[in-house]
Amino acid sequence: MRIEAKPIEPFGREVSGVDFTRPFTAEEKAAIRAAWVEGGIAIFRDCPSEDAHLALSRCFGEPEPSATKKLNLDRNPYIMALDQDEKTPVNIYEVDGERRTGWLGWHWDQAFMPEIVRGAALRMLVPARVAGETGFIHAGDAYDRLPQSTKERIEGLEVVYHFNGAQEQNRFGFPKSLRLVERDAEQAASIEKYTREFPPVVHPLVITQPESGRRLLKLSPMHARSILGMAQAESDALLHMLAEHLVDRRYAYFHSWRENDVVVWDNWSVIHCANGVPPGVIRRAQRTTILGDYKLGRYLDPAKRLSDHAARLVD
Ligand SMILES: [Fe+2]
Repeated sequence: MRIEAKPIEPFGREVSGVDFTRPFTAEEKAAIRAAWVEGGIAIFRDCPSEDAHLALSRCFGEPEPSATKKLNLDRNPYIMALDQDEKTPVNIYEVDGERRTGWLGWHWDQAFMPEIVRGAALRMLVPARVAGETGFIHAGDAYDRLPQSTKERIEGLEVVYHFNGAQEQNRFGFPKSLRLVERDAEQAASIEKYTREFPPVVHPLVITQPESGRRLLKLSPMHARSILGMAQAESDALLHMLAEHLVDRRYAYFHSWRENDVVVWDNWSVIHCANGVPPGVIRRAQRTTILGDYKLGRYLDPAKRLSDHAARLVD
């Protein structure tokens, strides 16, 4: 079998010819990694096991345990369980008239931390019988679509992020119809804990993807609070405009999952969202996290250094 990476619309690669029954050759690893860097997302079918999932993840970098420690498997902290079932804390939203659990707005992972992960690989164990899609948008394409005057205006700006796990309180680029239906005490306590334990951070609004040289509109609508140093009204208006531009669904890819699909996203180049499932619908997935080599973020508080590693792992 020979590895092939087929472009999909509107962006991304579907990779075929991967033999999960033996170790990958150096040439195969390079082809798999190139598909991911060029596509922003890479889709794989029929990944049969946790071991195969981890071996695939190592093509993209070094796996690390995810920051949300309680979701990592006891038997293997490098694999995070993302389940929607009867044990999941209750957190139900209504979006465009549909009730959803596991719904997450557009974001890149760990915008609320100064050092972000490079990527993640999500493997589907039990697809939802209804909904459950994951959406992706390429931040390089979004940047390219900006008018030249806006590109010049936003060059050099920085965004302040602070953990905002209550989706209904996120302000920029979130659906106007979004409302909270029900949240149990466990979920409310975990949102409160994360908000307290992760201090505000700053990231550039525009970055260059080092491998492709592409400019990226590096905005995470989730957790974004303000443009650093800008008056609030002007900052709000700019973030509303940029976030609406970024989350334009005409340029989104929504993955409808099959069992043993893996989708790997470049956390520098794309944003993603989770459509969630109707309450009562089961969905089981596992995620690996690829260690970041990002050096562009910092804490808002100048007294805090990156080496402080405040709350890198949270129970
Ligand atoms: Fe995410």
